[in-house]
Amino acid sequence: MNNYMATRVLHYLLVAFLIAITYNIDAASAGITRHYKFDIQLKNITRLCKAKTIVTVNGKFPGPKVTAREGDNLQIKVVNHVSNNISIHWHGIRQIRSGWADGPSYVTQCPIQTGQSYVYNFNVTGQRGTLWWHAHIQWMRATVYGPLIILPKLHQPYPFPKPYKQIPILFGEWFNADPQAVLQQALQTGGGPNASDAHTFNGLPGPLYNCSTKDTYNLSVKPGKTYLLRLINAALDDELFFTIANHTLTVVEADASYVKPFQTNIVLLGPGQTTNVLLKAKPIYPNANFYMLARPYFTGQGTIDNTTVAGILKYQHKHKSSKNLPVIKPFLPPINSTSYAANFTKMFRSLANSKYPANVPKTVDKKYFFTVGLGTNPCPKNQTCQGPTNTTKFAASINNVSFILPNQTSLLQAYFFGISKKVFMTDFPSAPLFKFNYTGMPPNNTMVSRGTKVVVLKYNTTVELVLQGTSILGMEAHPFHLHGFNFYVVGQGFGNFDPNRDPKQYNLVDPVERNTINVPSGGWVAIRFLADNPGVWLMHCHIEIHLSWGLTMAWVVLDGDLPNQKLLPPPSDFPKC
Ligand code: C2O
Repeated sequence: MNNYMATRVLHYLLVAFLIAITYNIDAASAGITRHYKFDIQLKNITRLCKAKTIVTVNGKFPGPKVTAREGDNLQIKVVNHVSNNISIHWHGIRQIRSGWADGPSYVTQCPIQTGQSYVYNFNVTGQRGTLWWHAHIQWMRATVYGPLIILPKLHQPYPFPKPYKQIPILFGEWFNADPQAVLQQALQTGGGPNASDAHTFNGLPGPLYNCSTKDTYNLSVKPGKTYLLRLINAALDDELFFTIANHTLTVVEADASYVKPFQTNIVLLGPGQTTNVLLKAKPIYPNANFYMLARPYFTGQGTIDNTTVAGILKYQHKHKSSKNLPVIKPFLPPINSTSYAANFTKMFRSLANSKYPANVPKTVDKKYFFTVGLGTNPCPKNQTCQGPTNTTKFAASINNVSFILPNQTSLLQAYFFGISKKVFMTDFPSAPLFKFNYTGMPPNNTMVSRGTKVVVLKYNTTVELVLQGTSILGMEAHPFHLHGFNFYVVGQGFGNFDPNRDPKQYNLVDPVERNTINVPSGGWVAIRFLADNPGVWLMHCHIEIHLSWGLTMAWVVLDGDLPNQKLLPPPSDFPKC
């Protein structure tokens, strides 16, 4: 090789090396763009021996798994081939400056109409873990939901032993009837909705229902291996206890935030919540199968589906079959075990270390106190209703405001294009206008007011919010979900919140960071968050019937002064109203 050739080769190597470095840096920090296509389409399906047609994504039920890595950009093209309008929410994604991709119908967008499409385009920044996606219009999410998994950045380990496999398990609720019809009937009559017919694991009700043994979720494990179960409660209305016979679970993450690991036999997830647990398979083949069960936690007055979904945990063996082995049954707490729920919720602590700090606001700019619970609307004249009385319909409210969604535009468009005065008011009460003993004897007048009211926050406001459950028409837990943010759960308790006594007990050291938290049945919860994401953000009870009854409100977070503190403009294919 002469000198000239040697220089050329060296030059090539150098260029290749530089490209490799650049590419790697890109892959590790800036991330890549991942494309998905969601065709909203009908599918015929049989469960519990009844055939029906459901709305799905790509003909799958549950829907396809979306996977990204922290730092990636996701572009998901949703094409609507069904007669229902649709929009998809990426539950738990912060959507920093990209509120146009958040998805709740009439909040951040008008729904995608039949034959139309929209590309949800957003970055996954500063979060990793188990989230999920679901339809966000009426009760379409009954069948339109799936997992959204954010892997840590390349070469970033989990803060727990690396699992052998990771397995999403989505809890769902199955209706023999059309869920949209169930909703319409409930709103029409003013009564509680007809209960679902089954609960499901990954769409399968399991052997404890009639005609369902062939639709059983089986989890097959190898002795000695550790599995990461990504639990997602996608049920419409039911909080669920979950357990696996003879196995202890280690909770390591909630709502895509790592937590200090703790062990438990039973986990509880409200609708909307996700929990990662490690399942350590027994070291030697156990000669048994084990039921995995889930059934509701409920303290309210209505009738709900109190049935139990079962899956089966089986061990793999080279020679033996798991057929004909005994199936061990686990224990589940009684349906109304509020004490179990409270103790379990208290176990969650954030890691709060230098790598995963708990950035809980230590000082608070704005304090809010919201009562949350049920109430009533009057029954229209000439109609007999099936609400709490035959002259009333069920309703639900925050600070006695039962939220009315706009139906000609979305809140975000109204805000961004400066026509908000026509669409919403900015006088959402920061505390109840009428005070009463919230968890004692309910007031005689349970009528709610109705309106489209928001709270406006300046950019970077630190917010403390106490959510106080009420006893109106029964005490019930409310899994509250905030779009656009994670919040820190700094305190919780039973009875009425005491502003003098309770804040002294706040945990400002390692409070859990979540996007959905239970307001305890007959109690309160206090959360804090930093309003560093400009846009319009819905906050609501994730029990779908409560949302339908108006148990929701919205925060408008204004732009900051700096260019990177402003909401981006809407994309060009944004759905028309
Ligand atoms: Cu998971 Cu507004 O919802």
